Amino acid sequence: MAGLPLPMIPHHITLFFIIFFAFSPLAKAAQHSVLSYGAKPDGKTDSSKAFAAAWAQACASTQPATISVPKGSFSLGQVRFQGPCKNRAILVRIDGTLVAPSDYKVIGNAKNWLMFEHVNGVTVSGGTLDGQGAGLWSCKNSGKGCPPQRRNDRYIFKVLIFLVNLFTVQSLEFSNSNNIAITGLASLNSQLFHIVINGCQNVKVQGVKVSAAGNSPNTDGIHVQSSTGVTILNSRIGTGDDCVSIGPGTSSLWIESVACGPGHGISIGSLGKESQEAGVQNVTVMTTTFTGTENGLRIKSWGRPSNRLLEISFQHAVMNNVQNPIVIDQNYCPGEKNCPGQVSGVKISDVTYQDIHGSSATEVAVKFDCSKKYPCTGIKLEDVKLTYKNQPAEASCSNAGGVASGLVQPTSCL
Ligand SMILES: *[C@@H]1O[C@H](CO)[C@@H](O)[C@H](O)[C@H]1NC(C)=O
Repeated sequence: MAGLPLPMIPHHITLFFIIFFAFSPLAKAAQHSVLSYGAKPDGKTDSSKAFAAAWAQACASTQPATISVPKGSFSLGQVRFQGPCKNRAILVRIDGTLVAPSDYKVIGNAKNWLMFEHVNGVTVSGGTLDGQGAGLWSCKNSGKGCPPQRRNDRYIFKVLIFLVNLFTVQSLEFSNSNNIAITGLASLNSQLFHIVINGCQNVKVQGVKVSAAGNSPNTDGIHVQSSTGVTILNSRIGTGDDCVSIGPGTSSLWIESVACGPGHGISIGSLGKESQEAGVQNVTVMTTTFTGTENGLRIKSWGRPSNRLLEISFQHAVMNNVQNPIVIDQNYCPGEKNCPGQVSGVKISDVTYQDIHGSSATEVAVKFDCSKKYPCTGIKLEDVKLTYKNQPAEASCSNAGGVASGLVQPTSCL
């Protein structure tokens, strides 16, 4: 080797070529079909180990890597896709369906079904995730003994919440990861949340379809928290809880072209559940359609001391027969337990509603229920037109201040 002229090439040029080839489309990603690791597309053989093995190879590769999941139905228990990896370009291309065990008790002790952690530069493209949640939902809806209701607001004590969260089973979670894309994925019938983005930076969710029964408990479509720079585009979400739920520590979130229904709408909060939690900032929700949902655009914070603020913009939304099209609830206190009579410490300011129109299923289409101690400030209503039974709907305000411009119907109560 010593005789080669390589040392003649200046280091920065060598480096240039290494970087060029690593990131150019010419660089051939190593292909890892799950079939060659023993996965069986027969809908019954447990393929968890094969998926984990394919991931281990892709993650250890110093070159970009592709994991391919061909057509067919793959039965999977919990799979953890853990980083950090040796490369920053792993594509998981799914043509088939991944099916969770129908007996929820099988993965009832894991927090997630499919969990990506500490990864950088991962794309999940295509495919269907079938959470087979119906068994768990009917058990919960029956009120009989089944795993405790995770994230349920009845569990007001931290210790209980902690214990209960140990039993959470969400379909797909990305946690503490950067530069993530989820495209063209369908998620069906999750046991709990469908897709969770937690502690991430730069995530693009695009062309996703979520569906679960309108009465399925705690099946939020996409949940974002403690994350910066998340974009959710062109997605259709029909489920039993929030279509998109936005938790503490979310900033620079962009949601555009999302259709929601059935479901509980796009919801910021609940915030202020923990006294020392991060705020929510810079959220834009554009061009959304809500059909037959419980809420449209909702902000809710617990009626408890806390100290956070928001800057939110809702633009171009269509409401079709939505029970509560526009809501700010600063006195959220389910069951009136542990917080009755207390005021929210979440300071809500600079919330814009622009070009929101359609029909409300109840008389009050705009409701700003803010706390006396920390009134909502800087609310802007512009070109809002909401009807109830083809008549102008009503608006209700307490402790809410701001301005209205353009046509605003119901008449602004700010
Ligand atoms: C707000 O979020 C958008 C993306 O949604 C981002 O482009 C913009 O830079 C953010 N603004 C600030 C001040 O962080």
